[in-house]
Amino acid sequence: MLGRVNHIAIAVPDLAAATAVYRDTLGAKVSQAQALPEHGVTVVFVELPNTKVELLEPLGEGSPIGAFLAKNASGGMHHICYEVEDIIAARDQLAAGGARVLGDGTPKIGAHGKPVLFLHPKDFQGTLVELEQV
Ligand code: CO
Repeated sequence: MLGRVNHIAIAVPDLAAATAVYRDTLGAKVSQAQALPEHGVTVVFVELPNTKVELLEPLGEGSPIGAFLAKNASGGMHHICYEVEDIIAARDQLAAGGARVLGDGTPKIGAHGKPVLFLHPKDFQGTLVELEQV
């Protein structure tokens, strides 16, 4: 079912400071900050040879990462995104096995313009899992 790791997302309280760490301390290629109001985040993409890291800062009230940062003040790994070929087939197979798909189970269009779903962390070793159809 799983393809490559599409990205690893890290929630951060200060996007400019986090971007500086990746760019200046770690020497990585980083994007401009991109506001995604429909997702409640501002994101910077860190481009690596084999995958991406996404630095997520809350944007607006009720951001989906607000509660996470309230519990993890210095930030932390928020989710890992795996690529799948057919997100509906993946969802149905997982649901049949008892895994919980978040929301109403309908894929939403994610930050890259592709359909995504999130899976309950309690069913996946305490890690929020995102599936992205590529
Ligand atoms: Co993601």
